[in-house]
Amino acid sequence: MAEKLIIFDTTLRDGEQSPGASMTREEKLRIARQLERLKVDVIEAGFAASSQGDFEAVKAIADTIKDSTVCSLSRANDRDISRAAEALAGAKSSRIHTFIATSPLHMEKKLRMTADQVFEQAVQSVRFARNLVGDIEFSPEDGYRSDMDFLCRILEAVIKEGATTINVPDTVGYAIPELYGEFIKTLRTRIPNSDKAIWSVHCHNDLGMAVANSLAGIKIGGARQIECTINGLGERAGNCALEEVVMAIKTRSDYFGLTVGVDTQQILAASRMVSQTTGFVVQPNKAVVGANAFAHASGIHQDGVLKARDTYEIMRAQDVGWSANKIVLGKLSGRNAFKQRLADLGVELESEGEINSAFAKFKELADRKSEIFDEDILALVSEENLSHEKDTFNFVSLSQRSETGERPHASIVFNVNGLEVHSDSDGNGPVDASLKAIEKHVKSGAEMVLYSVNAISGSTESQGEVTVRLQNSGRIVNGVGSDPDIVVASAKAYLSALNKLRSQSDRVMAQG
Ligand code: KIV
Ligand code: ZN
Repeated sequence: MAEKLIIFDTTLRDGEQSPGASMTREEKLRIARQLERLKVDVIEAGFAASSQGDFEAVKAIADTIKDSTVCSLSRANDRDISRAAEALAGAKSSRIHTFIATSPLHMEKKLRMTADQVFEQAVQSVRFARNLVGDIEFSPEDGYRSDMDFLCRILEAVIKEGATTINVPDTVGYAIPELYGEFIKTLRTRIPNSDKAIWSVHCHNDLGMAVANSLAGIKIGGARQIECTINGLGERAGNCALEEVVMAIKTRSDYFGLTVGVDTQQILAASRMVSQTTGFVVQPNKAVVGANAFAHASGIHQDGVLKARDTYEIMRAQDVGWSANKIVLGKLSGRNAFKQRLADLGVELESEGEINSAFAKFKELADRKSEIFDEDILALVSEENLSHEKDTFNFVSLSQRSETGERPHASIVFNVNGLEVHSDSDGNGPVDASLKAIEKHVKSGAEMVLYSVNAISGSTESQGEVTVRLQNSGRIVNGVGSDPDIVVASAKAYLSALNKLRSQSDRVMAQG
């Protein structure tokens, strides 16, 4: 029997640390449900002590998820660990992931602690955590740039205290595959009680090698857990991409000789959900989940694939969730067909009210667009597009005028805490005029650091999906909006970003 590789997903923690990718509690819960359908082994739901919002998100996920272990990150101190344990109390299976930096640079410059102090704190924290939860993961942050002797000393001690998983982060993406693999191997060989813990890899993608490094950590180093995120989401260049490592292990099982419990057919739905929630668009040539990942443009390739699929394809598109039948519904489709399609796409709406609201939006869209694709449905039910009574700002309607040689003008109606507001402005283009009209009333003072439009299903009939990234008082948020009218999509995205700016409290970020 092939050994099992544990898939530890950290989209909701390390992924969320990417500037602008922060998510609301409801968004995180929805993604956690999809991760459970994907059958990942561990979901790192957040960093409970970092903010009240994150505490509540971890708690909601712990109270809901049954088939995956739910984990919270915590710094190596009693307060953080207690907070994590409190948030995880309702989980069927829970894990505390505690970390402290161990590289000379981080200890001296960031922590201003000596190696002995770090050692003591790590040991004490694991001892404290072990009395609260049975499943404890310990990470020496910036582990790959740490001194080998010190690392061996501290890891041996935390295993002795009861750490059940030892995770070795390449926090800054500095590793090279063979060297990282050997690094893990050396640790496992030199630490006398290394067989008492599961070894885990956690690689960042600064040099584009997070997936290769993680796989080397498995193959050369003998690690049996990979930490990864959907679409490789994460700070800077991101983390190791779940879809890539999972498909590498599956496609090259002849080489790795390992199994994973992941239901790969749920990969695409997870990828789209994360991309639509965060506004981080997936590049077309991205492995496994990019729009072109299974497209064959050249005549020679098309001819080959038609004769025998494996001439140019090493994986089956259907195995990662791409469906051949892309047109799914139209304006004559009923509520049941819509509900069934949602279920096929792995989308669970929480209440009948949400289904009714999504179905009403579907009908509205079907009146304007003859073919409704899976992507349209996913956009429709994404958190951004369901109306939220608790949101401060909600889009109502918009009209705009633009004519060659004239300065465009927009009039917009939106709700602010339930009260209808009318505002208008001119601007360089209709989008600019619409957003200026909103800003004229809201006066957020936020700076726009990104505006991007993406056609959801590839034709001019398609819905436009707009991402707006705003920065204000050191906080960065993304808002996403979709509509067949890109000016309306832009206004929705802007209002969504403003809602996030309002609701997001400051949080402490892990340094990973
Ligand atoms: O990259 C890193 O070091 C981390 C740790 C907090 C595990 O994310
Ligand atoms: Zn990290």
